[in-house]
Amino acid sequence: MSSVQIHAYGSPTLRKKAVPIKQFDKRLQEQVDRMLQAMYIANGIGLAAPQMGETRQVVVIDLQMEPNSETVTLDGKLIPLQLVQPLVLINPSFDPLNDILMLGEEGCLSIPNVHGHVNRHLKIFVKYQDIEGTPHELTCEHLLARCIQHEVDHLNGILFVDRISKTERKENAAILKALKARGSPVEYETT
Ligand code: NI
Repeated sequence: MSSVQIHAYGSPTLRKKAVPIKQFDKRLQEQVDRMLQAMYIANGIGLAAPQMGETRQVVVIDLQMEPNSETVTLDGKLIPLQLVQPLVLINPSFDPLNDILMLGEEGCLSIPNVHGHVNRHLKIFVKYQDIEGTPHELTCEHLLARCIQHEVDHLNGILFVDRISKTERKENAAILKALKARGSPVEYETT
């Protein structure tokens, strides 16, 4: 059995701005390995370094979906979505590619048992570096675009519950209050 601890809603670490990675060294490799392992143990589709207590600009994503026909454009080439996963994004930033926003349901490993609807850009252009420091450009849409926007928010100290409607915030107020009051990490386990 493996277990992992993720910083929970209320942790000050989740509200800090993450610093850019400048050294693409063994420490970074080890951090990425820990994050990938944690994401799979917790059965999440994305994880940002601050959720593991490291305020550095590192994100891992794996939508863990069945093979399908979805594609992304990576460095100018159209390729199947599953070929870019697991996706490791160092120092990511993005721009929307059009004005279309989509309302979709989100959750977060740091905020268990809370779900809410967030408006995100449908299609985005992402710049990031890989684990070796090589720069890349990624164009993506739908769930991957949503996930990247959620994770980049984490790097800026923003949580999805900051973006849900007042009504949804009210509905979840008791859970959020309890998480904050408890003040301890969320533990996930797998067998
Ligand atoms: Ni999250």
